[in-house]
Amino acid sequence: MSKKFFLETFGCQMNIVDSEQIAALMIAAGYLQVDSAKQADLILLNTCSVRDKAERKVYGHLGRFKPLKEERPNLIIGVGGCVAQQEGEKMLAKVPFLNLVFGTHNIHRLPELVQQAEEKRKRGSVTEFHDRDTRLNLFPERTVQESVNSFVTVMQGCDNFCSYCIVPHVRGREISRPSDEVIAEVKTLVQQGVSEITLLGQNVNSYGGKDDNEISFAQLLQRLNDINGLQRLRFATSHPKDMTNELIDCFGTLDKLCHHIHLPFQAGSDRILKLMNRGYTRNDYLAKVKRLKEVCPDIRMTTDIIVGFPGEDEEDFQATLDMVEQVGYADAYTFLYSPRVETAAAKMEDNQSAHQKQQRFDRLLELQHKVSTSIWQSDIDEVVDVLVEGKSKREESQVFGRTPSNRIVNFAGSTDLIGKIVKVKINAAYRNAHVGDLI
Ligand code: 5AD
Ligand code: SF4
Repeated sequence: MSKKFFLETFGCQMNIVDSEQIAALMIAAGYLQVDSAKQADLILLNTCSVRDKAERKVYGHLGRFKPLKEERPNLIIGVGGCVAQQEGEKMLAKVPFLNLVFGTHNIHRLPELVQQAEEKRKRGSVTEFHDRDTRLNLFPERTVQESVNSFVTVMQGCDNFCSYCIVPHVRGREISRPSDEVIAEVKTLVQQGVSEITLLGQNVNSYGGKDDNEISFAQLLQRLNDINGLQRLRFATSHPKDMTNELIDCFGTLDKLCHHIHLPFQAGSDRILKLMNRGYTRNDYLAKVKRLKEVCPDIRMTTDIIVGFPGEDEEDFQATLDMVEQVGYADAYTFLYSPRVETAAAKMEDNQSAHQKQQRFDRLLELQHKVSTSIWQSDIDEVVDVLVEGKSKREESQVFGRTPSNRIVNFAGSTDLIGKIVKVKINAAYRNAHVGDLI
C-alpha cells in the first residue's frame, strides 16, 4: 500500500505554486496525497513569514501534530517555505518532534530528505541558496492542469530590499525563467483547456532585467497574447518603480490582458516611502496611475498598504488616506506593520503606540470599504464579461466566474459554461462578490 502525505500551505500565491511542485515530487516518489493529517505517514507544512502572525501560526500548527507523533512515532513531519528558510536548524531545536526542514531553494531535495528520515531516522535541514542553474530547475513545470485558470511562475526572488520586508532574505535574489520555457508552458496549458493565465513573481516588472539576451516583461506579454486559444492574461505582483511605459501601454494594446492591476503603494508619504526604500515618490506613483488610466480608462486597481511603519505620524497617515481616495482602489490588502528579523526597519526607532496604529488601521479600513463599495456598486445594471470557473459555492443551481477586474460573479447557469466567457448583467454587489443574470 502506498504511503500517504498531507500537505498544508500558508501564505502567498508563490507558496501555492511551490506546494504544487512539492505534491508532484512526492507523488512521483510513490506517495498518495490525502486531506487529513490523521491518515498521513508524512505531514508537510509550506510556511509564510511575511508577518509575525503568519510565523507564529506555523508553530501553533506544529503543536497540533505532537499528539499524532506520540501515537505514531514513525510519522514524519517536515516544514518548508519561508519560515523554514529563515529558521533552518533552529527549528529542529525548537520543535523536537520535527524531522526535516527544507528551505525555498531546496524543494527538489525533499524526497531525499524524507527517505533519510524514514530509513535512518535522521533529522535534516537544508537551507542553502542555489546558483542560477540549479534554481532554474525550481520553476515547476505543469504537464497536467484541469482548471480554467492557471498560475505560471516567470521569476522568483527579489532584489529590492524594501526595509520592512523579509522576502529578499528568505527567497534570495531575483531570477527570471527563460521566456521560451514560459511560452512553451503556456501553450501546453492552453492545449489542455486552460483559458486564463496569471504570470507570477515577487516583482514581475523586472522580468529579464539581468539578462541582456532576454525579452522584457512587456514583450513577454505580447508574445503570450498571440497564443491562439488563450482567452485572458493577468500578472502579479508589480513594483511601481519598474512599471515602464512599455508595460503600461500593454493595457491599451493587448486584447487578452485583463483590465486590472495590483500595484502596491504601501504608504502615501514621501518620507515613509523613503524610509521603506521603495524607490519612488508619491508623485511618481500617481503619474503612472494617470498614464494607466489614460491608456485603459476602465482599468480597476488594487493595492497593498502598510499602516504603522516606524515613525509614521498622523500627517504621513493622512497622505495614505488621501492616496486611497485619489486613486480609487477597487480593493486593498491592508497590513499593520510587523517587524521582521534581519530587515532594516526592525532597527528603526518607533515612537507611535500600538493603540494609535490600530486606530489608524481601522480608519483606513473604513475608508477603503467606502471606496470599494462605491466602485463595485457602479457595476450594477452593467453587462460584464465573465469567464466561468466552476459551480458556485453559494447555491446549487449557480455557477461562478470572474470579471476582467477580477471580481467574482455568481449567477444561475449550467456547468457546461465552464471555461467560456459569457455576458452577465450585474444585479447586486455584495462585499465578496457580485450576483447577476446570464444574458
Ligand atoms: N509588515 C506588514 N506588512 C508587510 N508586508 C510585507 N512585509 C510586511 C511587514 N513586515 C506586506 C506588504 C506586501 C504584502 C505582500 O505584505 O504590503 O506588499
Ligand atoms: Fe518585499 Fe519589496 Fe521585494 Fe515586494 S518588492 S517582495 S515588498 S522587498
